[in-house]
Amino acid sequence: EFNVIVMAGGKGERFWPLSRTQWPKQFLTIAGNRSMLQMTVDRLRKLVPLDKIHVVTNSNYRNLVLLQLPELPEANILLEPVGRDTAACIGLAAYKIAALYPDSELLIVPADHYVEDEREFVRSIEKGRSVLRATRGIVTMGIKPTYPETGYGYMQVSLRDEDRFFSSFKVERFLEKPNRETAEYFIDQPDYFWNSGMFLWHTDTIRDMIGRFLPDLYKGLETIRPALGTKNEQAVLEQVYPRLPAISIDYGVMEKADNIRMVPCDFRWNDVGSWGALEKISQRDMHDNVIQGNVVNLDTYDCIIHSKGNKLIATLGIQDIIIVDTEDITLVCSKYRSQHIKELIKELKRQK
Ligand code: GDD
Ligand code: MG
Repeated sequence: EFNVIVMAGGKGERFWPLSRTQWPKQFLTIAGNRSMLQMTVDRLRKLVPLDKIHVVTNSNYRNLVLLQLPELPEANILLEPVGRDTAACIGLAAYKIAALYPDSELLIVPADHYVEDEREFVRSIEKGRSVLRATRGIVTMGIKPTYPETGYGYMQVSLRDEDRFFSSFKVERFLEKPNRETAEYFIDQPDYFWNSGMFLWHTDTIRDMIGRFLPDLYKGLETIRPALGTKNEQAVLEQVYPRLPAISIDYGVMEKADNIRMVPCDFRWNDVGSWGALEKISQRDMHDNVIQGNVVNLDTYDCIIHSKGNKLIATLGIQDIIIVDTEDITLVCSKYRSQHIKELIKELKRQK
C-alpha cells in the first residue's frame, strides 16, 4: 500500500500582494497555467492513482481545494482547524491513513514546489521506495546545493562505499536552517545536500518517531486517534489540535533521528520561495524579463512584471525591478529584496 500526503497549509507570505491569507501561494498560478497545488497533484498522478493522494490543509481552504481539484475524492481532504506546523500535519495524516490502511508507505510532499523534470522525479521516488522497503527507516530526497540558502535544511551524508545502498547515502547529520556562515561552509563540501522537504516512511515509523522525540504531540495524536473516521472527528480535532505543539518535522524529528537515508535527486527543483524565483522557472524574454499579463516595455531589463487585472503596465528604462499589480495593491520592489517582503507586510500592519 502506498499513499501520498500533500502538505498544503502554509501561508506563502513572500508572494504578497498576489498571495493573501485567503488565497496563499499553493493556490496561485505562478508558473504555467495551473496552480502550484494543481501542478503538484498532476505530477503525483504519474506515481499513484488520485484516490491515493491526500491533501492536508487548513479548514479555511477547503473550498479552494475542492475548486482546484474537483476530481479528488472529498474524503481525501484532511482539514486542520488551525496550523500547527508540519510535525502535527504529518502526524495527523499518518494516523488518518494508518486507520484506513495499516502500515502504508507514505510519501510526504509540499504543495508549492516546482519540479521541471517530472520523469526524473518519478524515477527518484521509485528509487526512494526501493530503499524504504529494504530499510524501513526514513528516506529523504536530497538536492545538491548551489548557493548558501539559509532557509533550507542541510544533510551531511557518508560518502563511504560501505554506507551506500542502492543509490542512497546514509545521513550522518541533519541541520535545519543554518546561519549564513555555516551555510557558506556547507556548500563548499562534497558531502552536504539540501533537504527538498519530501519524505518517504511508513505510517508506523512516523508514529514511533513522534512518540520518541515529540511526546506532547504523540499524546495529542493518541487522543485524536479513536475519533478518526467517525462523526466526532472534526469536533475532537477542534478541541485537541490547537493545543498541539507547533514545530516543524525538520526540527522536531529529522534533526534527531538516526535512521535517515538520502536519495540524491536531479529533477531541477525549486521551492519557489519568493518572486525572485520566477526567473529560474519561467520563460524570459530577450532582455531577461519575466512578463505575465498586460505589459508593454521598452529598454527594460532583468525585471519581473506581473499584472493580474485589465490595467496595462508600461515600463521604460528600468532594471532589476519587480512589479506586481493586483486589483487593490501594486508592489514595486527591488529584485534583490524579494526575500524581505515579510518585513514589508509587518510594516504595513504597523502603519494601517
Ligand atoms: N497542512 C499544513 N499545515 N501544511 C503546512 C503547515 C501546516 O501547519 N505548515 C507548513 N505547511 C506546508 C507548506 O505549505 C509547505 O508546502 C510545506 O508544508 C513546508 O513548509 P514550509 O513552512 O514552507 O517549510 P520551509 O520552507 O521553511 O522548510 C522546509 O522546506 C525546505 C525546502 O523548501 C524544510 O523541510 C526544509 O528542511 C527544506 O529545506
Ligand atoms: Mg517552503
